[in-house]
Amino acid sequence: MKRVDDFRLRLGNKEYVPIMIGGMGVDISTSELALEAARLGGIGHISDAMVQDVSDRKFDTTFVKDKTKLYKFNINNMDKAVVQFDLERLAEATRLHVGATMAAKKGDGLIFVNVMEKLTMNAPKETLRTRLASALDAGIDGITMSAGLHLGSFELIKDHPRFREAKLGIIVSSVRALQLFLRKVAKLNRPPDFIIVEGPLAGGHLGFGFDWKEYDLHTIIDEILAYMRAENIDIPLIAAGGVFTGSDAVRFLEKGVGGVQVATRFTVTHECGMPDSVKQEYFRASEEDIIVNGISPTGYPMRMLKSTPAIGSGIRPGCESYGYLLDATGNCAYINSYNREVLANPDVKNPPVMDKTCLCTHMRNYNCWTCGHFTYRLKDTTHKLADGSYQILSAEHVFKDYQFSVDDQVALPEKQESAAA
Ligand SMILES: Cc1cc2nc3c(=O)[nH]c(=O)nc-3n(C[C@H](O)[C@H](O)[C@H](O)COP(=O)(O)O)c2cc1C
Repeated sequence: MKRVDDFRLRLGNKEYVPIMIGGMGVDISTSELALEAARLGGIGHISDAMVQDVSDRKFDTTFVKDKTKLYKFNINNMDKAVVQFDLERLAEATRLHVGATMAAKKGDGLIFVNVMEKLTMNAPKETLRTRLASALDAGIDGITMSAGLHLGSFELIKDHPRFREAKLGIIVSSVRALQLFLRKVAKLNRPPDFIIVEGPLAGGHLGFGFDWKEYDLHTIIDEILAYMRAENIDIPLIAAGGVFTGSDAVRFLEKGVGGVQVATRFTVTHECGMPDSVKQEYFRASEEDIIVNGISPTGYPMRMLKSTPAIGSGIRPGCESYGYLLDATGNCAYINSYNREVLANPDVKNPPVMDKTCLCTHMRNYNCWTCGHFTYRLKDTTHKLADGSYQILSAEHVFKDYQFSVDDQVALPEKQESAAA
């Protein structure tokens, strides 16, 4: 059987190891993780989710503190329309995060930024334009547009000097979504450079309903490949969601996709932004611990560990500090759920809210443990140490395992003596 390394992903006139590490917000796919993928000749993603908070943590800026101070007067008001992002400051935070990552880049690979349309930020169009344009300003190699149909996103940056030079791609979960997108961008005469096809086993938000079990990535890819051949469209497809071994990847590459996007296996690497204690939760998970639920205010189903602290947490909405999910009218589904519970339980402090969660605050604090379907197999990719914990891996080890493994095998790392080593 072939190895992933027998294939190359062609983008423009260059070739890459056909492994992309997917974007994982908020700062789960750190610069360090993305940089490893680029150093090893593949493609890494950072994410621009909650970029002002990410910037504060990395560069000692005070975007969140300043925004909280500015809108403090509104904290007890459930109408959040007034809580707007300052576009200049949003651009500045994006340029800091992207610019520092690009400045550290080594090797022949690429760094992309994952930009989710569902982060509507109380002014969807203006904030999205700022996010995309400032990532391009800061020299990002490419942008992956996700969590939404992005029917107007190319239009927003069509006058940017790098619009035709940077690599731009989209994540879709169906041939229909792809057709809609291609029809929309046709008039700009600027097709996407790559198309990520994400199936129902991915982590994060799913592009499927609660009937996600009815779908299968191989079938969706076959449909999309057939459509593209029939229409003579030549854009590399990237298969994502549940690609757990190098051999899983080869099965997609052999049918004609250009590469794979993988994420879950990198959640238990040193370079991943989650705290080590959360990485241990991922290792320990069994199949029954992984659920798909509707608590994300975005309306998309989301996969996560059952023990996620975000489930049932009735914290006050944190929109004055964050507000990334506020829609164009300043609303978020969590605010409605929170209000309902507070009204129904006047004597209870912080009554539990079961149907929605305050995703900004919980993602920011690594308290929403979103994960891919095969998270329960992570324990088979490492050693259990004497103290009962699992050995955390290096991104290089996982990347190379995808690149060189055969026969559905997963290479174990060299065993370390203790958890601290
Ligand atoms: C912890 C985690 C967070 C994720 N966050 C995002 C995100 O912010 N935006 C996005 O487009 N995809 C996100 N994803 C999806 C991944 O980028 C990727 O496409 C998918 O998980 C690949 O499948 P795999 O995890 O089975 O390898 C996330 C996945 C994981 C595991």
